[in-house]
Amino acid sequence: MDLIVNRRRVSVRSDPDTPLLWVLRDELGLTGTKYGCGIAACGACTVHIDGQAVRSCSLELADVEGSITTIEGLGTPDALHAVQRAWIENQVAQCGYCQSGQIMAAAALLAENNSPKDEDIDAALSGNLCRCGTYVRIRAAVKAAAAELRRSKS
Ligand code: FES
Ligand code: FES
Repeated sequence: MDLIVNRRRVSVRSDPDTPLLWVLRDELGLTGTKYGCGIAACGACTVHIDGQAVRSCSLELADVEGSITTIEGLGTPDALHAVQRAWIENQVAQCGYCQSGQIMAAAALLAENNSPKDEDIDAALSGNLCRCGTYVRIRAAVKAAAAELRRSKS
């Protein structure tokens, strides 16, 4: 099966019922996307398909339709995405395990709404769990990234 992953066409040989997460990690070596729960309950495996945040642990390969973006392809070869830069500036990560999923969820939110209120951020990210409790810094980083995106568009 052919997929578009991080702006490149790739051919994969996994069984059609393989969760996309394992295709990305095991077949394509894109290990930035993490396995947390495997039941769409934690958000660690979040990637984008056509810009929408999806749980790759619970999407079978045969059901993938659209262009996939993982944390490795969120920015460009020359620059990190605004959300990634804001994450670094706000030193959000602790153990880091949940963070690629958090960043992908935040980027999907900001692509639709670059002036999110606290409740918008909570609604978009409430399904992304962090054992280390980085939620306050996540919210600060989302707001910082939103401000940068607004500046870049003005
Ligand atoms: S590993 Fe997919 S939601 Fe937890
Ligand atoms: S930074 Fe450790 S689980 Fe979120």
